[in-house]
Amino acid sequence: MHVWLRKRGILVAVLLLVIAAAGWIASEVFVANQVGEEEVPSDAVIRLPPPRHAGEMSVEEAIFRRRSIRRFTDDPLTLAQVSQLLWAAGGKTIDGVTGATRSFPSAGGLYPFDIYLVAGNVTGLAAGIYGFQWRDHSLILVKEGDFRAELMAASLRQGFVAQAAVSIIWVGDFDRVRRRYGPRGVNRYISMDVGGAGQNVHLQAEALGLGTVIVGAFRDTMVQEILGTDLVPLYIMPVGKGSR
Ligand SMILES: Cc1cc2nc3c(=O)[nH]c(=O)nc-3n(C[C@H](O)[C@H](O)[C@H](O)COP(=O)(O)O)c2cc1C
Repeated sequence: MHVWLRKRGILVAVLLLVIAAAGWIASEVFVANQVGEEEVPSDAVIRLPPPRHAGEMSVEEAIFRRRSIRRFTDDPLTLAQVSQLLWAAGGKTIDGVTGATRSFPSAGGLYPFDIYLVAGNVTGLAAGIYGFQWRDHSLILVKEGDFRAELMAASLRQGFVAQAAVSIIWVGDFDRVRRRYGPRGVNRYISMDVGGAGQNVHLQAEALGLGTVIVGAFRDTMVQEILGTDLVPLYIMPVGKGSR
């Protein structure tokens, strides 16, 4: 075979590899962007203030101080605090196709969650249930009204759920993880993923002088009915100003 023919063969092979890799990366990003994202009218979208990427408390101090808080005052949260908490819960970090794109690590970059905000006491935000859109850092109103008491009832009547200004809820798309990783992925990866996101919110709340606790004890179907979703609720994190 002529040398130039061999060279051309290698070139074509490299080109095909590059195209395949680009396709795989694009499909990862595309799928990761799809969960819960539907076309919504633009007036239903509430833009959140941009999150800060630096703060006054070191990560070491936040880890040291973190503990579960189950008593909250009646103080409202600001929209800036809500924005910061949702960013920690699953917001956008480094832009780029191969760089990290979300605030927590996720097996295979699937990020198989929708994130909801149950807001009851936030200055400048009507009480209601909102879907967090991580790509443009915004909220979409799902239902108006104060659903904190209902959420408390669904959480085996743990009273602090009704007291906290807001709750952040992650719901998981088990089918998507099953399709990629089978039963092992469902048994392990979803819980591992949400653990990182929950710890982020714990540390972010601490750094903002707020309190939170992970709630895993609740009736799945009741939470699904409140949110209006078929996806599986994983964590509820009520957040507010802690009362000692
Ligand atoms: C998966 C999981 C589920 C939890 N569920 C609840 C719950 O339903 N109610 C509650 O009060 N605390 C719950 N917790 C909080 C733990 O009780 C708490 O993290 C533990 O007692 C350690 O205390 P610390 O967070 O203050 O260090 C949960 C924690 C985890 C990780």
